[in-house]
Amino acid sequence: TDAHTAGPFIAAIDQGTTSSRCIVFDRDGRIVSVDQKEHEQIFPKPGWVEHNANEIWTNVQEVVAGAIAKAGITRDDIKAIGITNQRETTVLWDKNTGEPVHNAIVWQDTRTDALCRELGRNVGQDRFRRETGLPLASYFAGPKARWLLDNVEGLHERAEAGDILFGTMDTWVIWNLTGGVNGGKHVTDVTNASRTMLMNLHTMEWDEKIAESIGVPLRILPEIRSSAEVYGEVTGGKLGDLLGGIPVASALGDQQAALFGQTCFSEGETKSTYGTGTFMVMNTGSKIINSYAGLLTTVGYKIGDQPTVYALEGSIAVTGSLVQWMRDQMGLISTAAEIETLALSVEDNGGAYFVPAFSGLFAPHWRSDARGVIAGLTRYVTKAHLARAVLEATAWQTREIADAMVKDSGDELVTLKVDGGMTANNLLMQTLSDVLDAPVVRPMVAETTCLGAAYAAGLAVGFWSSTDDLRANWRRAAEWTPRMDAETRDREYKNWLKAVDRTMGWLE
Ligand code: G3P
Repeated sequence: TDAHTAGPFIAAIDQGTTSSRCIVFDRDGRIVSVDQKEHEQIFPKPGWVEHNANEIWTNVQEVVAGAIAKAGITRDDIKAIGITNQRETTVLWDKNTGEPVHNAIVWQDTRTDALCRELGRNVGQDRFRRETGLPLASYFAGPKARWLLDNVEGLHERAEAGDILFGTMDTWVIWNLTGGVNGGKHVTDVTNASRTMLMNLHTMEWDEKIAESIGVPLRILPEIRSSAEVYGEVTGGKLGDLLGGIPVASALGDQQAALFGQTCFSEGETKSTYGTGTFMVMNTGSKIINSYAGLLTTVGYKIGDQPTVYALEGSIAVTGSLVQWMRDQMGLISTAAEIETLALSVEDNGGAYFVPAFSGLFAPHWRSDARGVIAGLTRYVTKAHLARAVLEATAWQTREIADAMVKDSGDELVTLKVDGGMTANNLLMQTLSDVLDAPVVRPMVAETTCLGAAYAAGLAVGFWSSTDDLRANWRRAAEWTPRMDAETRDREYKNWLKAVDRTMGWLE
């Protein structure tokens, strides 16, 4: 970090799955300071994952204050604040007290599986796909809201009375930042709304019929706005004194923010972000491409009153979180970085394949009934082979998505732009290039998620004048090219797919 860069600056908040962070950027898109804090992962039952939304809001305030302090700057140096967030994670709260009615239900949570199957039987898969771009899966927010309404006592009545607000994490953070119970703005942006299964992709408005069939009353839903505009100003809370009056000027789901931060502004440009999960997103311009290969049709971004930019997405639930699981639940490594050292101590996977279907399988399978497997075990396999299998799982899951992208878009994958924490793992990046049989490139600023939110906020307040300005900031930092022979690649892919088969059917 460099506290001496000349201002003014933009601050971006990334409310992620495992932590909240704030990064201050200068006009060249360089990082001035970072602060970050993890929050608790709550696992009440197998397949359930929750967060405490109050803890998250407290952490957000702390990391914003922390990043400002580290940068050694004051309110006058900051032109706007942008928000990006883990998507789909759902919280309902009382608008009079600001108190969440229950823990937030996290995107990885599979408790709505039965509800989704029931919707499939009663309403049909196709309706949801056609109107919202999404397959019926426990991943999305709308059914999570319905679960809360059904399972928190008296909540249906309180919602009918107009006391309850719905939000994904962007909405929760913006409402609190802009005053909370004292006039907080209840808004979401088009990218986050596109993950609720409640927004119609064609009209970009809440779809009344779909909302009714899922059982979510329209009156609890926020107003849908663009991804880059001033929603309100920082007011009250711990941040009121520090940043009061600063415009809150962007909101984008984290994967869409990464697309923006990678400057994928043209049709066909694609990025893949390696975090807790992995999400490959392709800009499809003004086209709503229906997926036949198991991808999601979603919103890329919308800058103010400019036309909506759509995207195709391949979502993988578990990649980085598998490494965390090896560390925290299995105790096979003591730091995440050790997975690479351990994997490098052997030549190959020793015949073992690890399919981490902990939240079911997302794209391209969409099977909430899938559960994780380790296949191919013999007495020969050591924890080092498993470490290889863990990294290969990320690579092969990406390969499945890349194949689906090629099928749906008709375009070959030329190069893949990557970012996110796991891209620090050199062995993984090489393996990725090997299994994709395509070059993999990483930009200088690997924090593209925060950068994208900062870019959008900066555009909204005129800090940057156009996306061309931003493109000039993208610089290549590293590149990996394929080294694996075709025969090995084909054999390993077949074995991987065999292991994938074995994950299915655990809930029937
Ligand atoms: O859809 C879930 C995604 O937005 C979560 O991203 O980076 O917090 O794992 P991340």
